Amino acid sequence: MSSRYIVQYVLKEITAKLNSIIPRASREAQLLLMAHLGCDELWIITNQNTQVKDIDKLYEWVERRVKNEPFEYITNRVSFYSEEFYIASGALIPRPETELLIDEVIKNIPHAKEVMTIVEVGVGSGIISIMLAKQFPHAKIIAVDISQDALEIAKINIAKFLLEDRIELRLGSLLEPINEHVDYLVSNPPYIANDAYLESNLSYEPQNALFGGSVGDEIIQELLNEVLKRKINLFTCEIGYDQQDKIRNFLNKEKYKNLDFYKDLSDFDRGFTLRL
Ligand SMILES: C[S@@+](CC[C@H](N)C(=O)[O-])C[C@H]1O[C@@H](n2cnc3c(N)ncnc32)[C@H](O)[C@@H]1O
Repeated sequence: MSSRYIVQYVLKEITAKLNSIIPRASREAQLLLMAHLGCDELWIITNQNTQVKDIDKLYEWVERRVKNEPFEYITNRVSFYSEEFYIASGALIPRPETELLIDEVIKNIPHAKEVMTIVEVGVGSGIISIMLAKQFPHAKIIAVDISQDALEIAKINIAKFLLEDRIELRLGSLLEPINEHVDYLVSNPPYIANDAYLESNLSYEPQNALFGGSVGDEIIQELLNEVLKRKINLFTCEIGYDQQDKIRNFLNKEKYKNLDFYKDLSDFDRGFTLRL
């Protein structure tokens, strides 16, 4: 193998390829190489003259990245709430702001040992249900998704965290596959309007994970109807930054104890908890 394939040259070559499309190309080149080799930054620094193995696969990754495919889909890895999850193009890439939804649910359940049934609608990769199962060891969790591809990815993550006995996956729409009593409903539903302008890298993500209807909040409203109809005591839901007023109006004539909105780190509305 030629010296062209030693770490320092490979990093330079990848940086040059990524430069046109990615702002921090040299850092991203390093991250791609680290993911490819399964090594850390220190190894890269101390092994500048080591040959890179399986170079064709690495350059295939770089070509995908040049086309703006998200890093997480290429490496099949994503971090969420300090844990590492498997991810692939059949499920939405978990967003850091969804960690706030986990914090919100934790805040609303005073005893970690509480026995209850939590249902998640729109499980995607499984991150929410998995973090809640870890946090509440006596809770039974039922996680629904309309996408079989998403359920396959959630299944891989549930097995990774050895939670097969705690989280049951069901295929279907909203609460259709749920007949049992629900104590707590959680959801990060699709809530973007169908005609919203989105950045090009979002085209790689499943469109039914992003778009919630012509206005955007249709699925949120359907979930609110289910919560009222089934008398589900607690419902925590992620929303878009401009959806608070619509949700307040929608619930205007309904009876409930509390409706609290929470904000993200940029101070935008990011979700709410409804307590009946
Ligand atoms: C925004 S993603 C959230 C995924 C994951 N829970 C997360 O927070 O990263 C929304 C998920 O809802 C699912 N979904 C869309 N419409 C649905 C419906 N009517 N019933 C159940 N799931 C639905 C999508 O397939 C997608 O997995």
